[in-house]
Amino acid sequence: MNKKQIINIVSLLRWCIVLTTLAVLFVGISFYELHKNDNLESQQLYCAVIDYSSKQYDDLTIMTPIQLYGKELFDKNCISCHSSRDEMVVGPGLQGITQRRSEEWILKWVQNPQKVLESGDKYANDLYVKFNKASMTPFPGLSKEDISAILVYIERK
Ligand code: HEC
Repeated sequence: MNKKQIINIVSLLRWCIVLTTLAVLFVGISFYELHKNDNLESQQLYCAVIDYSSKQYDDLTIMTPIQLYGKELFDKNCISCHSSRDEMVVGPGLQGITQRRSEEWILKWVQNPQKVLESGDKYANDLYVKFNKASMTPFPGLSKEDISAILVYIERK
């Protein structure tokens, strides 16, 4: 082997090393990119919050994003008159509401209680009398999805 051949082999080896390094890097980065969200996805499913809106539930509660969204809406719009448990505030406690009323009724009621009362709905009128004719605020801006999120939160399902 002459000097030139040795130089050629060394340079070939050098290229081999460079290419192998690049290949390993490429596989490594692809693997990382493919799997970097694995953990995040499972972390995003649940969120731990402290739920101050109910006395019995003032410990750490694990909620899904939909429950959290429902809680946000409930705390903003309903908590001044309702408990999510069974205590009476201005209105009745809403615990078990989906067993008492259909989602369809609840949707109509929350968006426009006055209209439900005027339609002659016996349940609504009895409740209205029971609560000394205290009027509930209408929430025409809450969508079906908003109200079902509130129900998911209340029922903690
Ligand atoms: C200003 C007070 C007030 C606010 C705010 C309020 N409510 Fe009410 N709600 C009442 C009262 C009072 C009643 C009882 C019926 C009546 O007097 O009209 C009632 C009744 C209800 C009922 C029927 C309960 C049952 O036991 O059958 C549901 C469901 C309800 N409210 C849901 C909501 C939701 C959801 C919100 C928030 C988006 C809300 N309410 C906000 C006062 C309020």
